[in-house]
Amino acid sequence: MNKTEIYYFSGTGNSLAVARDIAGKTNGKLIPIASLMDKESIKTDADVIGIVFPVHFASIKGIPGIVQRFAKKLGNMNSKYVIAVCTCGGFSGSTIENLGKIIQSSGGKLATGFTVQMPSNIEAVSEEEKQKLFDNWKKKLEFIYEYVNARNEGEFETMGLPLKIILAPIFFYYKSKTLNFFKKISNSSDLPFDELLPLTDRRFYTDENCESCGTCARVCPVNNIKIVEGRSEWQHHCVECLACLNWCPNGAIHGKWMFEEVRYHHPEIKMSDMILKN
Ligand SMILES: Cc1cc2nc3c(=O)[nH]c(=O)nc-3n(C[C@H](O)[C@H](O)[C@H](O)COP(=O)(O)O)c2cc1C
Repeated sequence: MNKTEIYYFSGTGNSLAVARDIAGKTNGKLIPIASLMDKESIKTDADVIGIVFPVHFASIKGIPGIVQRFAKKLGNMNSKYVIAVCTCGGFSGSTIENLGKIIQSSGGKLATGFTVQMPSNIEAVSEEEKQKLFDNWKKKLEFIYEYVNARNEGEFETMGLPLKIILAPIFFYYKSKTLNFFKKISNSSDLPFDELLPLTDRRFYTDENCESCGTCARVCPVNNIKIVEGRSEWQHHCVECLACLNWCPNGAIHGKWMFEEVRYHHPEIKMSDMILKN
């Protein structure tokens, strides 16, 4: 009998909701990527592997650092049927293709990769639009299930070469804008993107509505927050998933960002779902 494992990373629940739906349909085991990060290598006897995660910075690589590190640690990948699903607020660029390259460098092969548009956690989305996106996902889930069940291969929802060429200058602009912003908020100037990103938590602070409840520390998938004398302190190994800011029950966490401040989490995901269970 085939064994299926669905690995996921999620800050505000979109990718967890998608991963949970896929695991439900395929009778797969749901495994949080963040629970595996202290392992040197990740080996599994599953025949089918799903990787579900949010798009972070499509103009750079699109894959959160933690998911890149996870994919690089995968071993024993030969002959496994591997699928990827990224959730995004609107544009995933070459994210699926980039993950495919990492899987390949781990000795595996990405059979197929899908992009699912969900309400963005960095831009305001109307309630009507959110509902439309959730409805679209339920339809797409059926398609993905049929596709995966038949072990089809070759469908990659990623950017083609013509679009890559057209968008190259726009990507260049956004990449340097993001890098400059990161340098400013992390108080560092000479580090590359991957080393700057964990320091961007220097921008987070709590306001007078903070009740020291510790939710931020509990939902942080990478244990980046400590409560010290009743105050949240970020430890500078942030992955920018925005779980702390969005799950705070009092909306007490802020941090200047490139976009307007929004509060969002997937309506079917509860805070307790976000706290790692393994
Ligand atoms: C740091 C960061 C960068 C993001 N970059 C992009 C992006 O480049 N393109 C996009 O469409 N959405 C982007 N998003 C939005 C998320 O991909 C989207 O809301 C996703 O579904 C969130 O998934 P999650 O709830 O599982 O964390 C970004 C979100 C964050 C927090």
